[in-house]
Amino acid sequence: MANVDFRPLMEKEDAGLIGETGLQRKSDVIVIGAGAAGMMAAIRAGKRGRSVVILDHARAPGDKIRISGGGRCNFTNIHAGPKNFLSANPHFCKSALARFTPADFIAMVDRHGIAWHEKTLGQLFCDDSAKDIIRMLLAEMRMAGAVLHLGTEISGVEKTEAGFRVSTSEGHCEASSLIVAAGGKSIPKMGATGFAYRLAEQFGLAVLETRPALVPLTLDPGLLESIAPLAGIAAPAEIRHGRTAFREALLFTHRGLSGPAVLQISSYWREGDEVVVSIEPDIDIAAHLKTAKQLNGRQSPQTALGDILPKRLAQFLVEREKISGNMADLPDKALLRLAAGVQNWAVKPSGSEGYRTAEVTLGGIDTAALDSRSMEAKAVPGLYFIGECVDVTGWLGGYNFQWAWASGFAAGECV
Ligand code: FDA
Repeated sequence: MANVDFRPLMEKEDAGLIGETGLQRKSDVIVIGAGAAGMMAAIRAGKRGRSVVILDHARAPGDKIRISGGGRCNFTNIHAGPKNFLSANPHFCKSALARFTPADFIAMVDRHGIAWHEKTLGQLFCDDSAKDIIRMLLAEMRMAGAVLHLGTEISGVEKTEAGFRVSTSEGHCEASSLIVAAGGKSIPKMGATGFAYRLAEQFGLAVLETRPALVPLTLDPGLLESIAPLAGIAAPAEIRHGRTAFREALLFTHRGLSGPAVLQISSYWREGDEVVVSIEPDIDIAAHLKTAKQLNGRQSPQTALGDILPKRLAQFLVEREKISGNMADLPDKALLRLAAGVQNWAVKPSGSEGYRTAEVTLGGIDTAALDSRSMEAKAVPGLYFIGECVDVTGWLGGYNFQWAWASGFAAGECV
């Protein structure tokens, strides 16, 4: 059992949390996965007096929390509601989200004296470090009497008369309830294996198609070559896919398009589809160009556009429309074409960067197989699935952690 990386996150008094005397053979609840959802479930179940063993093959708990939000963890979103989640059944998440709200998580953060701030759009971040959230969850698990076993590989799960038997690299353990919180497929380098989906299938639960989400989109080589000079440029944008649109920053990269607006739309985009990009959507570019022509006809269009956009981007857009000459020389039709190139750019991504960089996995365990109040499998009493492995995927901005906390709490409340 390895716990080397875990120690620096612990308070002295957390030492009792690690199962150091070998795997506890029997408990009320086994949780597989010490990520956001699993830790919250362990806390809630433990506080309700259940004996809880939490198993993880990683060397440290909450690895994704540690790297989240650029190291500051965007731990919730004060506006989180069912509309911010994608799922084959958009109603499924309602019950859990209503019973553990952003205010409930903020109250826990405040109890632990963790300073936080709202960055933008209701997104709450730690002032200092995401590790504060991990420390908080570990302290809460200690108070709840949960026992954590890290570096523990799961080799099999069986249903028994009394509940479940889990075979691991440290021996086997049994419990009447099993909560699966093993996450999705995103970032395989960090140990994401798709384990939860295989386990669901083993017990006959349907798993809906999974795909990388909140992920940068790639462009085909020809288009990529033409936008290569823009790599590193960011601009406010609106990106549309059908009737869905997000207004956030767009970032040009060496592989294609990224930034929050692109990550958001990636959850809706499918291969072969176009997205429509509007740069600086709050500014009427056509009106700006017409005014610039009237006020300073000797200006170049690059300069006029460069008043609003980064210079390199302005130059690229003017060259792409093959527009030359001074503003005074340009017919209004040319200015409108240029404006449309800025604010109505239809682009067909060739793909996405995949699970390697995706923040989450879209799809997953079919919610039709689960009870929305408890997350328990309807056909397998005592078996629960929570967090990212379930077909509930949040927007970018703290929503996915809110789902992890809320679904974890829901299961912990019912085991
Ligand atoms: P999570 O993946 O956190 O935990 C699963 C646990 O199960 C892991 O500890 C893993 O080791 C363990 N496990 C997996 N397979 C196992 C096996 N076979 N045996 C034993 N253990 C196993 N969201 C948000 O709301 N705000 C943010 O700021 C960010 N930022 C962010 C940045 C980056 C880079 C990524 C990749 C993701 C985010 N997210 C995010 C998304 C967020 O991290 C994600 O939604 C939650 O971590 C999901 O929590 P879970 O507990 O379901 O899975």
